[in-house]
Amino acid sequence: MNNEQLIQEINRLRKEKNAVIMAHYYTLPEIQDIADFVGDSLALAQKAKTTVADIIVLCGVHFMGETAKIICPDKKVLVPDLSAGCSLADSCRAEDLQAWKTRHPDHLVVSYVNTSAAVKALTDVVVTSSNALKIINMLPEDKPVLFGPDRNLGGYINSVTGRNMDLWNGACHVHEQFSIERLVELMKQYPDAKVLAHPECKGALVKLADVVGSTKALLDYAVRSSATCFLVATESGILHEMQKACPDKKFIPVPPEISESSHPCACNECNFMRLNTLQKLYVCLRDESGEIHVDADIAKKALLPIERMLDMSK
Ligand code: 13P
Ligand code: SF4
Repeated sequence: MNNEQLIQEINRLRKEKNAVIMAHYYTLPEIQDIADFVGDSLALAQKAKTTVADIIVLCGVHFMGETAKIICPDKKVLVPDLSAGCSLADSCRAEDLQAWKTRHPDHLVVSYVNTSAAVKALTDVVVTSSNALKIINMLPEDKPVLFGPDRNLGGYINSVTGRNMDLWNGACHVHEQFSIERLVELMKQYPDAKVLAHPECKGALVKLADVVGSTKALLDYAVRSSATCFLVATESGILHEMQKACPDKKFIPVPPEISESSHPCACNECNFMRLNTLQKLYVCLRDESGEIHVDADIAKKALLPIERMLDMSK
C-alpha cells in the first residue's frame, strides 16, 4: 500500500473502532499529521485521562503507552512498535531505585515520566518537563528529594530553585549530543536568533538558552515570540509543528557533536520515536496489535504518583 492508501485505511479503521490516535512531537511528520492529537508527555497523559475513545493508539515510546494504560486501565492502549523504548527510562531499573530509596528512607522520590511503570510504582510524585519546576517548588523546602532518572533536568531544577536534590545518573542519549561549540557558532552567525533548549540537554548548553522548557513550552514560545529565527536544541521532530505553526519563521536544529559526514542531516533524532511509521500504525489498528499490559498491582501503585502530578499541574 502506498501512503495515500495507508492514510485512507487508518481513517476508516479509527472511525470503525472508535480509536483515537495520539502522537508525540518527536514522531515522523506524517504521523503527527494523521494524529487526532499531538502533544508533549504531559498533554498526552492529560488527553488520555479525558478521552472517550475505546482504543488509544499512542504513537510515541513505550513508557508513554504505559502511562496512558495506567490512567485508563479499561481502555485498550496500543503502541505501533512495542520495541520503541527510551534510553533514559532504561537507565533506571526498579530494583536499583528501590536500593537508592532504602539508603535514603526519609527522602521523597520524584520521577520523571520517562520511566517504567515499575519505577513509577516506587515514586511519590511523577513529573514531566512541563511541570517539574512547578511541582518541585510545591514540595516542602526542608524535605530531601531523590530525583531521577534525568541528571540534566534535575540539575537544571536544582540550579533554578537552589534545592539540592540527589540526582540519579541518567540522561537521554539524544539530548546529550547537542554540540555547544556548534551552537555558539550558530549564535554568532544568527545573532538575533533565540535559543530554545529542552532541559534534558547538558547544563552548559541550557545556560546559553533564552528559553528552557518542554517541547510544548518551546513551541508556544516560538509562536508568541516576535523573533523570526530560532536555534532549536531538542529532537528535530518538533520542527515540523514549529514550522507548521509559524510558516514565516526560521527554525534551525542545533547539530549534534558527531561529525556531519556520519550524520548528514545535522540534526538529532530519537530512533525510538521514529519507529512509529504509517505502515505500523495501520497494522496496529487493523490487528489491534502492540497492546500495552501493565501488571495490576504495579499499575495501582503507579497511578497514585501520576494522579498526584495531574492534580499538581492544574
Ligand atoms: P516532553 O516532556 O517535552 O514531551 O519530553 C519528552 C521526552 O522524551 C524528551 O526527550
Ligand atoms: Fe527517551 Fe530521549 Fe527519545 Fe525522549 S528523546 S524518548 S528521552 S530517548
